[in-house]
Amino acid sequence: MTEEKKLFKVTIDNITVEVEPGTSILMAARKIGGDVVPPAMCYYSKLEGSGGKCRTCLVRVAAGSTADPRPMPKLVASCRTNVMDGMVVENITSPTVLEARKGVVEFLLINHPLDCPVCDQAGECDLQDLSFNHGAEGTRYEFKRRTFERIDIGPYIQLHMTRCILCFRCVYVADQVSGKREHGILDRGDHSQIATYIQESLDNEFIGNVIDVCPVGALTDRTFRFKNRVWFTKPVEAHRDCPTCSGKVRLWMRGDDVLRVTARKDQWGEVEEWICNECRFEKKKATDWIIEGPTTVDRHSVISQGHYVNTVKPAETFSPVMNGRKPKLLMDIHQVSEVNNVDLNEIQGPATNRTFNGDAYASGTNVTDVKVGEGRNMEGTDSTNANTI
Ligand code: SF4
Ligand code: FES
Repeated sequence: MTEEKKLFKVTIDNITVEVEPGTSILMAARKIGGDVVPPAMCYYSKLEGSGGKCRTCLVRVAAGSTADPRPMPKLVASCRTNVMDGMVVENITSPTVLEARKGVVEFLLINHPLDCPVCDQAGECDLQDLSFNHGAEGTRYEFKRRTFERIDIGPYIQLHMTRCILCFRCVYVADQVSGKREHGILDRGDHSQIATYIQESLDNEFIGNVIDVCPVGALTDRTFRFKNRVWFTKPVEAHRDCPTCSGKVRLWMRGDDVLRVTARKDQWGEVEEWICNECRFEKKKATDWIIEGPTTVDRHSVISQGHYVNTVKPAETFSPVMNGRKPKLLMDIHQVSEVNNVDLNEIQGPATNRTFNGDAYASGTNVTDVKVGEGRNMEGTDSTNANTI
């Protein structure tokens, strides 16, 4: 007879759940779901060793276990603390936790620029959401923020260290997913930075995944930078027969143009399956993909704006009165408008006035988004914040 595995009972914000021994408080909270789940900026369940860096997931352990019901003396990082049988945890029910989290957000923002208006991550940035939900509206910080030059890490990825919160996730991806780590965190204290040795290019086939795990806009896709705001694009699930990865991706489309390809993410914002660079950076035509259908977007997300699923459209009257002619044929914007004769997905960088003034394949170079070269990016600035220039 097989012995039944003993489960631990843990109560988080007055809700009790049973989990296996060895489960962290954060994962137990995710089993409950909703507001009980602490935010996590560095922990990533698919990356071994992640967590314990950012402290946004702090919780109060009001009772350690049934055997020893004393409270823990300090707040603990829920991503790195395992549950005990009979443990009682407070997250949003503890004013101390909420106050501490506010402090953590303030620390994270000390060196983070107010780049949201020009940052590609805006709209899907974990730090933006964290500040909105847990931060204070003002800042007490009066000093100059630390800044770094932007660096092109290979042909597809740009590192903007100024925005990095040193969560370590990208280092774990390079280590565990691509199996070829050439970057890490160098130096100490406020000099710490993500850097590659001698600007080594991270050219592994899976390295594009660092973009998806980065919780802020520090690692961005050079084939997408400044092409569109994410909330104007429409996410759809698609797949292709890929010899390197599962080929299951999310396409971010505007009309028929595929502006960006990313991995699919689950409800916790974590990648479901890692995808290869070819799928991510080279397959930018709708015909490259088999489209499965629209992505279900959380209605609280800004990306849900203007995207409707299961809507009932009024009956189309154009065809019957025009002898069966389809309105779509008349409305192909690429054919009828010179200004719109630009396929954003085909140009290599962001559009400029030259793109719309006769040279449909011209793209911006001031932000080094064309696919050439690597190394330091000395030109231009992303920031509108005087503190970061
Ligand atoms: S670049 Fe992004 S993923 Fe890497 S440590 Fe910085 S914030 Fe984290
Ligand atoms: S998510 Fe737990 S310390 Fe960062």
